[in-house]
Amino acid sequence: MKIEDNIGTVDYFGEHRKVFMDTDGAKEGDYVYAQGGVLIRTVPEKEALETLEFWKERFFELKKVDARLSKVHDSQTSNAILAILQKVNLKRALTKEDMSALYKVTKPEELKLIYETANSTRQKENDNACCVHGILEFSNHCRNDCSYCGIRKSSSIKRYRMTVDEIIKNAEYAVKELGFKALVLQSGEDTWYDEKKLVEIVRRIRKMGVLIFISIGARSKELYRKVYEAGARAVLLRFETSNREIFENLRPGTSFEERIDLIKYVKSLGYVVATGFIVGLPGETDNDLINNILLTKSLGADMHSFGPLIPAEGTPLEDERLPDKQKVLKTIAISRFADREAKILVTTALETLDRKTRKEGLLAGANSIMINVTPPEYRELYIIYPNRADKDKDIKENIKQTTDLLYSIGRAPTDIGL
Ligand code: 5AD
Repeated sequence: MKIEDNIGTVDYFGEHRKVFMDTDGAKEGDYVYAQGGVLIRTVPEKEALETLEFWKERFFELKKVDARLSKVHDSQTSNAILAILQKVNLKRALTKEDMSALYKVTKPEELKLIYETANSTRQKENDNACCVHGILEFSNHCRNDCSYCGIRKSSSIKRYRMTVDEIIKNAEYAVKELGFKALVLQSGEDTWYDEKKLVEIVRRIRKMGVLIFISIGARSKELYRKVYEAGARAVLLRFETSNREIFENLRPGTSFEERIDLIKYVKSLGYVVATGFIVGLPGETDNDLINNILLTKSLGADMHSFGPLIPAEGTPLEDERLPDKQKVLKTIAISRFADREAKILVTTALETLDRKTRKEGLLAGANSIMINVTPPEYRELYIIYPNRADKDKDIKENIKQTTDLLYSIGRAPTDIGL
């Protein structure tokens, strides 16, 4: 690694990447681990050489597979769709009308071309890296009463809260035993975790040399600032929908403006930002989805996070219909066209819609995945929506399945093990 001002240049098999020097006195020539453009920790030479040795051949092998799968094949497609995809290839911005035309596509050959173009764009701009973050759901208490959410305040589910020590213990297991280098700490909006507790949690986990994402809902700006100072470097906070009317209907007592303002604020603090929306809320149109994609981009999202509504029992939306899988895949592809270099998540909700869709999402422009590391006795109570794809998956088994899937399509998992 080389350093100038506060920016380091990391050499990764001949590729040079810039990182923000955030930590522990790393010097030129050190081996380091970086994530999301942030330096997370230095790595002892022996460990680094072992890792590089492991990756040396596999790295180029995987790239070859990815390049092969990222080819765009000729197919029967209308000129109008071809013209839009040609714009994508020329790196020109799509208009809302273009995006709307893509949402209207139903023919399998045309869908295939859209997904292949998105996958090829992902490969050209981002190569074959795929983030694999662990997610720990530490409390299902929530002060909000959102109509879509299974852990809303008025749900009569059994509630749990992990103690600070329990959170640390689980984080330690995820980092030391399972090898995660990026961890999302998620909960309902639970004020039992005040500034003091959150700062302690973040400080202690940061010492493990891991990128900490917090996903704790709309808390005060001051709290987000203190938690940044304690060492958290990423925030996952969706705006849920860009349609103010739908927002206000479904999220009583909360304000769209305040949520957007908070996302902008955490971005301004220097957090890596993951944000996004739910696909398939009642009353939502394709135009809303397009506005959602554009809002995600304009908020400077480093990572796009969206998934289908899975109607949750006992909530006002329990009888809603599941959105069409193609709609979510198209949203991934169009997000990729709108924000070529972003990370785009394949969410558990998408996998819940259809177990095979993780792979389809990754081949339609996505390049990020999360693995649940919540202990089973709590995971079964974190029922934001029912039948979650990861509900009964053993953590190690899930890691294996995920890395096997990634290897099979030529992707290099970046934040796990090895
Ligand atoms: N279906 C899909 N996603 C949901 N979320 C909440 N309830 C549901 C549901 N029924 C999403 C919200 C929230 C995230 C943690 O989970 O977007 O931000």
